Amino acid sequence: MIGRLNHVAIAVPNLEAGVSRYRETLGAQVSQPQALPEHGVTVVFVELPNTKIELLEPLGQASPIAKFIERNPDGGIHHICYEVTDILAARDVLASTGLRVLGDGEPKIGAHGNPVLFLHPKDMNGALVELEQVAA
Ligand code: CO
Repeated sequence: MIGRLNHVAIAVPNLEAGVSRYRETLGAQVSQPQALPEHGVTVVFVELPNTKIELLEPLGQASPIAKFIERNPDGGIHHICYEVTDILAARDVLASTGLRVLGDGEPKIGAHGNPVLFLHPKDMNGALVELEQVAA
């Protein structure tokens, strides 16, 4: 079921500063900022040879990462994203084992235009896990 590591997401208090660190200091290629109001975040992707780093900045009053930044004022690793080829099949298999899917359990469209779901960190060894459906 589980495929490649798609990205590791790091929540940052200031996206511009985060981009500058990766682009100027580390010499990485970084995408343009993308506002995702439905997810309450603005994101960029740092392109690495073997995976991506997603930098997340809170967007709006009800941002799900605002509290995370409050607790981690310097930012911190927020989630990791694994690829699956059939997100509904993956969800149903996982749910049948008692694993909790966050929200209403229905996939939302993520930053890459693909369906995504999040799994409860308490069921995933303390790590918030995102599943993203990619073409097989
Ligand atoms: Co993500």
